[in-house]
Amino acid sequence: MKILKKSLSILLVLTMLLSCLGSASAANVMTKEQWDKYWSDTDEISAAVTMFPGDNETERYVAWYSDNAEGYVELTSTKGTEKIDAQAKQTAQGDYRLCAVLKELEEGEYTYKCVSGDFTSDSYTFSVEAGNDFTALFVTDIHVSQDKNDSPVDTSGETAFRYNQTLEAAYNKALNQGNTLDLIVSAGDQASGGYRKEFVGLSSPSYMKSIPFAISVGNHDRKSVDYKYYTFLPNETDNTFRSYIGTDYYFTQGNALFLVYDSNNSSMHGHYDFTKEAVEANPDAKWIIAVMHHDLYGGREPELDTENALLKLLWTPIFDKFGIDLCLYGHSHFHTISNVIHNNKTVESLVDRDSVTDPKGTIYMATGSINNTADPTREDGSEHPLGENAAHSYLAEDAMYSLLQFSDDSLAIKCYTVDGDEEFDSLTITKTTQEGGHKYSSSKFFLLPLIFFVSRIVNVINNIDMYERYVDQGYDVSLGEGLVGTKLFG
Ligand SMILES: [Fe+2]
Ligand SMILES: [Fe+2]
Repeated sequence: MKILKKSLSILLVLTMLLSCLGSASAANVMTKEQWDKYWSDTDEISAAVTMFPGDNETERYVAWYSDNAEGYVELTSTKGTEKIDAQAKQTAQGDYRLCAVLKELEEGEYTYKCVSGDFTSDSYTFSVEAGNDFTALFVTDIHVSQDKNDSPVDTSGETAFRYNQTLEAAYNKALNQGNTLDLIVSAGDQASGGYRKEFVGLSSPSYMKSIPFAISVGNHDRKSVDYKYYTFLPNETDNTFRSYIGTDYYFTQGNALFLVYDSNNSSMHGHYDFTKEAVEANPDAKWIIAVMHHDLYGGREPELDTENALLKLLWTPIFDKFGIDLCLYGHSHFHTISNVIHNNKTVESLVDRDSVTDPKGTIYMATGSINNTADPTREDGSEHPLGENAAHSYLAEDAMYSLLQFSDDSLAIKCYTVDGDEEFDSLTITKTTQEGGHKYSSSKFFLLPLIFFVSRIVNVINNIDMYERYVDQGYDVSLGEGLVGTKLFG
């Protein structure tokens, strides 16, 4: 096993070196047999070492599970080796999730190990690149599942393998284009039952140790409490009316600002304050990318039309107000890219177009699931209907991912299937000025106070429901620890 892992490490380093040289074509693929052996023989998988983004590209958060409340990351660069102490959260299971924040990183290659008590992780390699050109992988609804299709045997390893295949496909695709993957953006439902074992599976691909993973909380992730302990994220907002499990956070990469929302939380006042603070703290950001779980404009599921109408009413005034360029989401498990939307209406059609310059609004994009791919046909044999504001779609039962190539003035989106390697959709957004074509007013803005009030009440009710769910599961949760409504209940 050690030999296999060393070979994979060498292969990973070699492919990184090749990509630095602008070369392409190295394949980096793990067979199911190799994966099963890795999954069953590697004790370290349970530590779930994961790299999350820091405040910007010069920071990384490295987290792992440990029996010990104290630990550190040993970080090595060309300048030498240093120890960075970790902070700790006690988990629902009673052990600890540790996190070291690697700060003031300069361009170059690094290796690190996580150390706590008797545990020392393998060495992992990552690279830091500055500048506005970078490639982000966009995936959603990975659905690592402990009991997929009610399986009596644990399916965490099998579903994690599928995620690893996706990461391999994306990594090699970027490599063939002369790029490295600098960031993984995931729009929620990383897990299915929200179980710790699922987050362990999610973390098991080697890419999760070397590429910052921008996670967001989906409705499935919060079915249990473990998301809360698994994650360490930068610039988290902590307003009173947040969810128990997750919250909004932001970070920058190059000249892009990523606003990652907990869309299970309907309290829009908190989201508004968070967005205002993040945008004002990053006035030089040219690209503003929202990431959340719930699909607003894709359609495809008529039974969700009422919920989507409400979500659009709640979210779009904020996106309009702050000039969000692109909103990435999932939940529907269907791939769609919207027209340019402002004030909840199409202001520019993107039908049959693969480029747009200075869009006067926001473009919304959903893509398909990794492990729970959607059947294109409904139970009655009809096709899932497309949303009226959707421009691009791909209706197929394929696992899919997208590469987002950022540069100073353009954002090129290219979408692929995991197995077929097919580019099935693309869109390039160009901004000729800092703000592009954004409008900064919304005729619905006068409705915000009403929206704030109603959404807060809805959220309190929602959180009471979740609180009862966690208590029923036997978790020791307290109303005072981020569970919204605390003030209402004294
Ligand atoms: Fe999902
Ligand atoms: Fe979902």
